[in-house]
Amino acid sequence: MSFLQAARGISEERAPIWLMRQAGRYLPEYLAVKAKSSFLEMTRTPEIAAEITLQPLRRFPLDAAIIFSDIMTPLEALGIDITFNPGPSIAKPLRSAASIEALAMRDEVAPFVGDALRIVRAELAPDVALIGFGGTPLTLAAYLVEGGGSKEYTHFRQFLRREPAALHLLLDKLTELSIVYLRMQVAAGADAIQLFDSWAGLHDAVVYREFGLPYYKRIMDALADTGAVRMFFALGAAHLMDVVAEVPADVVSVDWRTDLRAARAQLPGRTLQGNLDPAVLYADRATLASEAQRILRSGLGGAHIFNLGHGIWPDTPIDAVAHLIETVHAFKRL
Ligand code: CP3
Repeated sequence: MSFLQAARGISEERAPIWLMRQAGRYLPEYLAVKAKSSFLEMTRTPEIAAEITLQPLRRFPLDAAIIFSDIMTPLEALGIDITFNPGPSIAKPLRSAASIEALAMRDEVAPFVGDALRIVRAELAPDVALIGFGGTPLTLAAYLVEGGGSKEYTHFRQFLRREPAALHLLLDKLTELSIVYLRMQVAAGADAIQLFDSWAGLHDAVVYREFGLPYYKRIMDALADTGAVRMFFALGAAHLMDVVAEVPADVVSVDWRTDLRAARAQLPGRTLQGNLDPAVLYADRATLASEAQRILRSGLGGAHIFNLGHGIWPDTPIDAVAHLIETVHAFKRL
């Protein structure tokens, strides 16, 4: 069940499991903390962020912890003003070359995340891995240009077509920021880093290859000498697998719509992570177990880390999470 063994490509008898967004709103103990502090305070206060990171580990025998933070957290160091309600909202969306040229790293990048990681590492059982994370430059740029979440990201996609050079400059600056931020997380104790490309699915393969891939390569290459496991998750990216295959990641996380066996064929030698539909946690116990086992069987033939195909939903029944973890740990792969 060792997360790190599986992440390094060693096929284990049992699949390790963690859940994207495992620290969060489906846990009453998270809601109790949230009643007293804003989301920004929670992410900026190392003791609180560490506590929330550890909450799911106290309840469930998960194989990894993911630090409680947000993909938007490091952007403050570029002087960007962000609020959460609950999704990110940008006070001044970046819609001109001049606003992008003016961006510069002003401060140390989110040192409180490093402090939170050190607290968690000290409290975590030695066989539980600690995951740090960041957003990809292309996904961060989508929020920064659009001004917040959106279905179609029309401002962002217009900007990509109207001002490709300015967008490349923004992606370059976000890449440099990400490298500093992610290396800091490894130095603070993260065993693995996951890059979240939550808005990959907006793009066709030509755009993705030009505006995504080169920057992801730079980030992953800059982490190579740290020894941390490099993980990549692109949402809605089944049509982009050729490009995803070129990202130098040890672990490729796939969403619930992507067939794991097909992904295995497209990504030989890589550890696969995923990919239960988060909605299955609302099914009856027998269906939940059989769907989890179906995913486990389709993950055979190489190393597999069990996960959801995207983040866990806010009102997920807690018993279902416990049942899922038991089911995964009971399944023998060898
Ligand atoms: O996985 C974990 O347990 C660690 C915590 C974590 C959060 N955000 C906390 C959070 C992680 C890994 C993230 C990543 C993140 N943030 C992503 C990538 C993963 C994905 O879901 O695709 C994205 C796109 C964001 C941006 C973001 N932040 C959104 C869209 C939202 C609001 C809606 C939502 O999905 O929760 C946030 C706010 C946020 N980040 C919350 C949490 C727990 C909700 C705050 C609250 O309790 O109201």
